[in-house]
Amino acid sequence: MKSLLTLRNYIIRHKRYLFLGFIFILLSNLFAVLLPPIVRESIDGVKIVLDTGEFPSYIDQIPSSFKSKSGLALFAGLLILGFALLKGLCMFFMRMTIIIMSRHIEYEQKNDIFKHYQKLGQGFYGRNYTGDLMNRISDDVSKVRMFTGPAIMYTLNLSCMILMVVGLMFYVNAEITLYVLIPLPILAVTIYLVSDAMNKKSDLIQKKLSSLTSYVQETFAGIHVVKSYAAEADFSREFESMNAEYKDDNIDLVKINGIFMPSVIALVGLSILITIYVGGNAVVDGKFTLGNIVEYIIYVNMLTWPVASLGYVTSLVQRASASQKRIDEFMNVEPEEDLGQEQIETLTSSIEFKNVWFQYPETEVWVLEDISFTIGTGTKFGIIGTTGSGKSTIAKLLVGVYRPTKGTILVDGLPIEQYRKSTLNALFGYVSQDIFLFSETLRDNILFGSANEDDDTNLNQAIATAALSREVDTFPNGLETMLGERGITLSGGQKQRTAIARALVKNPKILLIDDGLSAVDTKTEVTIKNRLRDWNKDQTFINISHRISSVQDCKDLVFMDAGKIIEKGNHDELIAKRGVYAALFEKQMMVMD
Ligand SMILES: Nc1ncnc2c1ncn2[C@@H]1O[C@H](COP(=O)(O)OP(=O)(O)OP(=O)(O)O)[C@@H](O)[C@H]1O
Ligand SMILES: [Mg+2]
Repeated sequence: MKSLLTLRNYIIRHKRYLFLGFIFILLSNLFAVLLPPIVRESIDGVKIVLDTGEFPSYIDQIPSSFKSKSGLALFAGLLILGFALLKGLCMFFMRMTIIIMSRHIEYEQKNDIFKHYQKLGQGFYGRNYTGDLMNRISDDVSKVRMFTGPAIMYTLNLSCMILMVVGLMFYVNAEITLYVLIPLPILAVTIYLVSDAMNKKSDLIQKKLSSLTSYVQETFAGIHVVKSYAAEADFSREFESMNAEYKDDNIDLVKINGIFMPSVIALVGLSILITIYVGGNAVVDGKFTLGNIVEYIIYVNMLTWPVASLGYVTSLVQRASASQKRIDEFMNVEPEEDLGQEQIETLTSSIEFKNVWFQYPETEVWVLEDISFTIGTGTKFGIIGTTGSGKSTIAKLLVGVYRPTKGTILVDGLPIEQYRKSTLNALFGYVSQDIFLFSETLRDNILFGSANEDDDTNLNQAIATAALSREVDTFPNGLETMLGERGITLSGGQKQRTAIARALVKNPKILLIDDGLSAVDTKTEVTIKNRLRDWNKDQTFINISHRISSVQDCKDLVFMDAGKIIEKGNHDELIAKRGVYAALFEKQMMVMD
């Protein structure tokens, strides 16, 4: 329950809705409890008319046009109808206030969570599953909304109704009321147990359904692998067994559901039976009237839903508090602070790694060990090495995705931490090894993260430099062609060239390409590199590659292996050294021949 306290700020912000809602709840209950006494008076009135031929004593308070036998019945009918309408109107407004409040809170909570997520560091995303993040912003927020909306509304409504109805019943006859109310606590407990079991089952079913969905999604995302390994039958078998579990749980739920209504009806029936039996005896003794019996039956019916919903509301509150606790778990994770200073801009954008050591968060392995090198302004720098040696990690440290565990990275002579993320983003045009394109238009994908969105000359130049013009010309809608799930799928090389265009359009001082030319042929690669030089001679170019042909023209080169730099120099020096670089060069030359 305590976790729900975090919601108080949201509720306080919308207290106006809550207050109005409460007023409408009071009014709707008031109109509701006025009905049974009218019914009672009409029945007792009919009896008086039948027995004595006289009108009941309150006839003088009734408008004169209704002063006949049928008029009296009509008047009672109109009163009942009028109050029922008023009650309905108030119930409408009670929803219009409290449920609307819950929708506002849901909206704000989702925004807050999303904003918070974006501020969290890479370490957080390494530790947690994407599905978990999504669940908290969708499922858990919905469960919390069931508290701020329905649960609060039902709780206020049912407390109000129970107080008023039970109060009135005691006012009419305390002893009979006690008898009649006996089955109701049993009803409340039964319903609590049943709805708890139902909720647990539904949660389980929900989980099974989502794993079933994920399974289908993954199967079809990787359908070409499934087909190329002829694994269709295995996948079908697995799906069938998951689907069978899902069905069995659903059948269990139907059974529990089946118990629910009969038990409610049985217990309400018991209350009515008691009313008729005890009430009937009291009528014989002259302590109760026939009208009272009907009045009580209506009361019992009025109490049924509030009492039944007690159990339902309790489980809503429990689920909401568990969900809120899960949400808070992530909301309490401290966002990664941007310690950078606003005004620092780089002039020369030279880069120096000074004894940099690095471990990924939550791991104990040194991925980089004592890395030192310098990249002068406007020079070409190549990083080459074995797979898994830490090349991409160096790139991620450069663009500020991670911070070095030990050592410093200097940009323009200042530690990289002193720059704002936005400054680094403007400084680097970064093509990462795993390229991600959004399901948006080609234009939006290229302009992603760029400040000069309206500069079409610049955009066209970036496209030409990335050797992407031919695609733009042949795509059905040119730059407005949709990519991804909603549009066309790009080939590996097209993706890479799109990513290069995306990096270039920012006109960055430093271009950092991590294996970004691996899927384009050597001829295109040379074209791109020549155009790059023509476009911006002062640009620093850091090229990470597996291909020596791709980096051999660099002024400086480092060769990485298992987190360390094992060779350093330019192409000629490294060849002369006759070490690992030279060996790799020879091997790659042979393949080319
Ligand atoms: N997010 C991560 N969390 C933990 N370890 C990681 C993470 N990313 C990479 N590693 C590990 O760090 C090491 C270096 O990875 P990195 O991606 O930098 O290698 P690489 O030189 O770019 O390899 P490749 O040539 O295959 O692209 C690897 O052993 C890898 O398993
Ligand atoms: Mg890599």
